[in-house]
Amino acid sequence: MKTIEWQNEYTVGVKELDDQHRNLLKTINTLLEEQRDKYEAAKFSPALSSIIHYAYTHFATEERYLLQVHFPNLKQHVLEHIDFIMKTVGLALRIESSSGDELRIELLRYLKEWYSYHVLGTDRHYIPFLASKKISKP
Ligand SMILES: [Fe+2]
Ligand SMILES: [Fe+2]
Repeated sequence: MKTIEWQNEYTVGVKELDDQHRNLLKTINTLLEEQRDKYEAAKFSPALSSIIHYAYTHFATEERYLLQVHFPNLKQHVLEHIDFIMKTVGLALRIESSSGDELRIELLRYLKEWYSYHVLGTDRHYIPFLASKKISKP
């Protein structure tokens, strides 16, 4: 599976959030490269738990910004974050107790799709709200 390269146009206009989105992408790309290089199961797990851990941190930061600007679709946005955690944790648990590649590939596909759909899609809906209000680091 091909990696996704960060483009300047992916910015949401807040450096802290951009840095986190870039780091999330870096971790997804690490997993994709490991898979391409016929990774070993032992290498896969740390990157997987680090992406789940990092996603938690990112979601908390992003939600604090959205609260600060009274983003109207906050509830729906938070539900997408929760859905990501549920899916990745669920898949990670199943991967731990499986030996084949199938679930790993399913997870990689999900992470790629999620990045395109959520980070490069849903997240962009809050850009005008962050831009129109005076925001400070929450
Ligand atoms: Fe985000
Ligand atoms: Fe988000």
